[in-house]
Amino acid sequence: MPGLLAYVSILCTIAASSNAQHPHFHQWNHYGPPGAVSSSSTALTAPTSTPSIAVAELDSSPNASPVAASSASSSTSSTAVASTGSSTGTDGSSGATASSSITPNGIKAGVAGFPDIVNTNKAALDQYAPYISWYSDYWPNTTDFTSGTKTVKGIGMLWGDGDLNETDPTAPIGTAAADDKNRYAAYTDLPASPAPDYMMGFYEPDWPAPYSSNMNAPTAATAWKATLDKLGNTLVGSPSMATQMDETWLTPFMEALGVTEPPWDYTCIHTNKNTSDGVKADVGYYWTKYGKPVWVSEFACVNDESWTMCDQDTVNTFIPEVVDFFEKNASVIAYGYSNGAGLGSVWPLIDSTTGNLTSSGNCYLDVLQGKVSSGQACTN
Ligand SMILES: *[C@@H]1O[C@H](CO)[C@@H](O)[C@H](O)[C@H]1NC(C)=O
Ligand SMILES: *[C@@H]1O[C@H](CO)[C@@H](O)[C@H](O)[C@H]1NC(C)=O
Ligand SMILES: *[C@@H]1O[C@H](CO)[C@@H](O)[C@H](O)[C@H]1NC(C)=O
Ligand SMILES: *[C@@H]1O[C@H](CO)[C@@H](O)[C@H](O)[C@H]1NC(C)=O
Ligand SMILES: *[C@@H]1O[C@H](CO)[C@@H](O)[C@H](O)[C@H]1NC(C)=O
Repeated sequence: MPGLLAYVSILCTIAASSNAQHPHFHQWNHYGPPGAVSSSSTALTAPTSTPSIAVAELDSSPNASPVAASSASSSTSSTAVASTGSSTGTDGSSGATASSSITPNGIKAGVAGFPDIVNTNKAALDQYAPYISWYSDYWPNTTDFTSGTKTVKGIGMLWGDGDLNETDPTAPIGTAAADDKNRYAAYTDLPASPAPDYMMGFYEPDWPAPYSSNMNAPTAATAWKATLDKLGNTLVGSPSMATQMDETWLTPFMEALGVTEPPWDYTCIHTNKNTSDGVKADVGYYWTKYGKPVWVSEFACVNDESWTMCDQDTVNTFIPEVVDFFEKNASVIAYGYSNGAGLGSVWPLIDSTTGNLTSSGNCYLDVLQGKVSSGQACTN
């Protein structure tokens, strides 16, 4: 279809020049960069809390209130999460040198993007359970799971506004619109008490459906006011951006909310980079610009210009390096290995045929167990 090919070609040209892409582009490469984002505003809305203050609070008083509790936000509470005060307990997690009161149970590591895995392949998650504190599944009502004596927290997310914005008639929407609707309903059905400890904001509203929630900033702001803004004793995460450090969405979002300080407690970010330097640049961007602790709610090894996934050799050195960075960097309060769509055959943690951990899955496990360190390569 020449028409479609021309469309792909134009979008790829835009993609190559914008350097603001996403793994789903790799799989569904007829998607262009988000037309939704009108970046008329180039001025930053500088957060009034500076990173250095936030670091000092996080580092010096691990049992104190989350950083945002001292801001104007009324949606936070210091009582929501009790810190263990230590990130290197008896859990066996290695190398953890910094955490905050936001870090679930004092352990930063997690796994992200596992719909229904607790029912379909809990055995795989059990292998990580001693070393992680959290997992996510795109739903707001994610359940905790127990593995032996360990409880791993299910971290909920309000994925979209329940009314999926389908702008591309050729997009394979599949169940995405129904999922969005059902997830929103599950959110509104959550019991008022007890409030969840955590809730993450919208999933990549800066990117087209079906694998991202595709909302313009004013629409998302209206949905935020009706939902996440009203949460009481819950630590709320920002909307996550597909466009990584090239995002132009969160500032218009804050403007639409009429706030000058981020109204979330931690900034949820997705990093799709092929080097630890690229990952550091993403973290640094959000930390500097929004001044909130960073929850890396998804990371993957991707060349984000060509949208090719890293090969196994690259993955084998990438994982130890980035985990070391996440553990040591006090701006990062949690991180999760992404198991989302469009990530090729090397990166996913679990072999979809056998249900066993892949080489990459074993690499992440080895690193979390302290068997492989930064500067070394996984061998399996
Ligand atoms: C979340 O809510 C949906 C819709 O009610 C339900 O189908 C699903 O089983 C729930 N998930 C969990 C983990 O309870
Ligand atoms: C829907 O998505 C399109 C393209 O991404 C965007 O231009 C439009 O503003 C969005 N509409 C809403 C209601 O979010
Ligand atoms: C964490 O890393 C980023 C990127 O290198 C940096 O900007 C930030 O200052 C670091 N945080 C701390 C507390 O050192
Ligand atoms: C890594 O990704 C960058 C784009 O972020 C790309 O320019 C570079 O060629 C990639 N490196 C490798 C080895 O694929
Ligand atoms: C999956 O792992 C189990 C346990 O380690 C092993 O016995 C089995 O052979 C593996 N299956 C495949 C297909 O690799």
